[in-house]
Amino acid sequence: MAFRVAICGKGGVGKTTFAALTVRYLARELKKTVLAVDADPNATLGAMLGVAVDASVADIREETLEKKDSIPSGMSKDQFIEFKIQQCIAEEKGFDLLTMGRPEGPGCYCFVNALLRRYLERAAEDYPFVVIDNEAGMEHLSRRTDGAVDLLLVVTEPTVVGAESAKRIADLARKLRITVKRKGLVLNRVPPEGVAEAVRGRLEGVGLDVVGEIPQDDEVARCSANGESLLELPAESRMLAVVREVIDREVRRGKKGA
Ligand SMILES: Nc1ncnc2c1ncn2[C@@H]1O[C@H](COP(=O)(O)OP(=O)(O)OP(=O)(O)O)[C@@H](O)[C@H]1O
Ligand SMILES: [Mg+2]
Repeated sequence: MAFRVAICGKGGVGKTTFAALTVRYLARELKKTVLAVDADPNATLGAMLGVAVDASVADIREETLEKKDSIPSGMSKDQFIEFKIQQCIAEEKGFDLLTMGRPEGPGCYCFVNALLRRYLERAAEDYPFVVIDNEAGMEHLSRRTDGAVDLLLVVTEPTVVGAESAKRIADLARKLRITVKRKGLVLNRVPPEGVAEAVRGRLEGVGLDVVGEIPQDDEVARCSANGESLLELPAESRMLAVVREVIDREVRRGKKGA
C-alpha cells in the first residue's frame, strides 16, 4: 500500500523544493521506489529533479476527448488511457515522475477523469511512496483526482502573512472530502535569530504542529539560480537535513497511525 505525502502551501514558499528533496531522500538515500506527481499546472518538479518532461496527463485528457478517432481500433478507451499514461511517466533511477499538466477546459471530462482516477489509484499501489507537489493554495485539492493522503505538509514562511495563509490552507484541508491521516506545518527560511515572538503566536493559531524548521540554504538558492537539479545538491545541505528528519519522523508516525 503506497504511503502518500502531499506538499501544499501558498505561492513561492518552497513546496516544490521540499517535494524534490523528499523524492531524493526516499529514492536515492532510502532506496524506496517513489512515484513523484507534479500536480501544479505550472509544472516545475521535473526541472528540479533534472527530468525532461514531454507529456502530461492533461494532454491525454484533451487527446481522448478531442480526437476520439485517434484511439486505435481494437483498443478500448480504458486501454488507450492506460497506455498513454504509461507513456507520459518519466522513468528515472529510483523514481518515476508523472506530470498532471493544466486543469481541464470547458468540455465534459467526467468519463475521462473517472478513468484517470481509477488508473492513478491502481498505479500508485505499485509504489511504496507517492510524493505529490501541489499548486499554490488549496482550492484545487477538492478537485483532486486521487483519494487519501497519509501525510499532508503545509509549507510556510515564518511571517505574519505566511501564518495567516497557512491557517486558511489548514482550515480548507479540514473541510476536504479526501481523507488526510496526518498533517504538519513546515517553516521554511527561518531566520538565524529564530521565529519572531509575534509570529509564534500566529503560528499556534494555524492549528497544526510545527514538524520542521528549515533555515535559508545558500546551496539550494545556488542550484535554483543555475537551474541545476536538486539531485546534485551537496549531501550536507541544511534543507536536506531537515527534510530527512521530517520525513523519517512523520512517515514513521503516519505508519503507526499515531
Ligand atoms: N530554504 C531555502 N533556502 C534558499 N532558497 C530556497 C529555500 N527554499 C526555497 N528556496 C528557493 O525559493 C524559490 C521558490 O521555491 P519553490 O519553487 O520550491 O516554491 P514553491 O512553493 O513550489 O513555488 P510555487 O508556488 O511557484 O510553486 C526557489 O528559487 C527555491 O530555490
Ligand atoms: Mg512549486
